[in-house]
This record gives sequence, structure tokens and C-alpha cells, in this order.
Amino acid sequence: MSQEMQSKLCLVTGATLGIGKETALGLARKGAHLVLVGRDAARTRETAAWIAKESGNPQVDLLIADLSSQAEVRRLAAEFKHKYPRLDVLLNNAGAIFTRRETTVEGFERTWALNHLAEFLLTHLLLDTLERSAPARIVNVASTAHTRGTIDFDNLQGEKKYSGIAAYARSKLANILFTYALARRLAGKGVTANCLHPGVVATGFGHNTPGLVKTLAGLARPFMTTPEKGAETSIYLASSPDVADISGKYFAKRKPIASSKLSYDEALQERLWEVSEKQTA
Ligand SMILES: NC(=O)c1ccc[n+]([C@@H]2O[C@H](COP(=O)([O-])OP(=O)(O)OC[C@H]3O[C@@H](n4cnc5c(N)ncnc54)[C@H](OP(=O)(O)O)[C@@H]3O)[C@@H](O)[C@H]2O)c1
Repeated sequence: MSQEMQSKLCLVTGATLGIGKETALGLARKGAHLVLVGRDAARTRETAAWIAKESGNPQVDLLIADLSSQAEVRRLAAEFKHKYPRLDVLLNNAGAIFTRRETTVEGFERTWALNHLAEFLLTHLLLDTLERSAPARIVNVASTAHTRGTIDFDNLQGEKKYSGIAAYARSKLANILFTYALARRLAGKGVTANCLHPGVVATGFGHNTPGLVKTLAGLARPFMTTPEKGAETSIYLASSPDVADISGKYFAKRKPIASSKLSYDEALQERLWEVSEKQTA
């Protein structure tokens, strides 16, 4: 275990599997104090114990929340704030794809609720803590799938026409639009916001949903990169001194790269911000 991230508190969502689990392990190995967020208590406890053992770092805490529910996101943020006075890194990693249109307890389409609104709401609820802890970092896990995404405000939640792949691409575009708008608002406050594509990674992704996505994910598995490699850019953005002052960028393989033309549309970023604020009010 190194001391690179010693005394840094890092909250990682979606930490029970895949990229999030390896990201948490990588940060634990750098000496960080981890707070893992999972939705299943037993699985999250098991992961926390595994990370502590693998990293030799006992500072691995956990909080439980189903992030597709805004009530749970609010409870999570309140519990976090009650337990911890600071937050150095917020790593919004949890995400999924849903072949069939489903709605959450609060009536939002599930992909939109989990991949975008949870990230938007959790970040807002923890922003004062992050600002107080500056220098601090926000890292949002997006995807190259965003290049296929569009934002149609009349079909934001697939109300008129639903496709799992389109809903996923839209949510990942929203991650990037949100990151850019957030970085603008955080300029000069000592809190950075960046996003990333982790690569095409053999994880549990797509396995929660039946049909084509699960089949394709299974077929493509031998050609995919490992979760350990997939976590590298998240760990880099969360911890490297090289990016301490970089904000509002999209990364892949630890390098800033261009995201889609649409993602740079500031009017779109701001309109999405307003709509997201209303949807999480
Ligand atoms: N894999 C890829 O090739 C790839 C490519 C580009 C981007 N990404 C992005 O990378 C991120 C991580 O994906 P992954 O590939 O590591 O997927 P994964 O193996 O399926 O892991 C997803 C994580 O999110 C959690 N999660 C799912 N639904 C949740 C909910 N309702 N509430 C709380 N947590 C929930 C899962 O928890 P449970 O253990 O409870 O299910 C799990 O820990 C996602 O944002 C994804 O969009 C992945």
C-alpha cells in the first residue's frame, strides 16, 4: 500500500462489481479512505472485506442505497454527511443498461434515473462538502456510447419511443453535458469535474437485462479489456497530481480526448441542467 492518497476520503458508487470495484481497490492501494456505495448490503460488505484484504488497507467503509431512487440518494447523502465531515473525491461510477423500458419508484425511466439523475442529485447534495474539502475532485464515468446519444427533451425518458441502447447512449451523453456544465460552475472553487470512457471492459455490464444486450456482451467478452485496466483512467483522474488542476475534460486511456460535437453545446448543457434540477426537485 502506498501513501499517495493517505487521508483522502473517496466515495465510489457502483463499487460492488466491475470497474467500480477495481477503482475502489486501486484507490485503497494508494492509501485512501474508501466509502463504497452498493445497493445490496451483503454484496457490499463482502466487497469491502475483499478490498481491505487485497489492499492491506483497513479503511474501507460502506453505505447502502439503490441509486435509481431519489429518496435513497437523499438518504445516502444525509448518512454520508452525518458520518463524514469531508469528501475529497466523488466517483460517480454506477450505471446500467435496460433492454425494456422500466420505471423507478418515483416514476422515472430507470436508465435516466440511475445513470443521469442519481449522479446529478448526489453531486448536488455533496457539493457543499466537496467545496469545503477543496482541493477536491468529481469523476463521472461516461462512455464512448455517448457519441450515439441525442437529447430530445420530448423523449428524454423514452416516453414516446424506447430503445435500451438509445436510452443508455442518451444517459452517457447527459453525463458529459453535466460534467462540462458543472466544471463551469466550479471554476475557481478548487473542485474539479472530469468524465471518462473506461474502455470496453468485461464486467457484469448488461447482465441485469435479458435479450440482445446480454447476448452481445457475452459474445464480445473475450475481446474486452479487464476491469483492472478499465479502472485505470478513473483512478488516474481521482488521484494523479498531473490532473489536479484539470477540469471540464473527457478522458480515455488517461488522456484528455474530444467528446462528441453535441456534448460541447452550452445551450444544451444549460437546458439539460434546468430540466434535471426540476426532475430532482
Ligand atoms: N463495461 C464497459 O465496457 C463500459 C464501457 C463504457 C462505460 N461503462 C460505464 O462504467 C460504469 C460501470 O460499469 P461496469 O461495466 O463496471 O458495470 P457492472 O459490472 O454491471 O457494475 C455496475 C455497478 O453499478 C451498480 N448498480 C447498478 N444498479 C444500481 C442501483 N440501482 N443502485 C446502486 N448501484 C447500482 C452495480 O451494483 P450491483 O452489484 O448491486 O448490481 C455495480 O456495482 C457504468 O457507468 C457504465 O456505464 C462501462
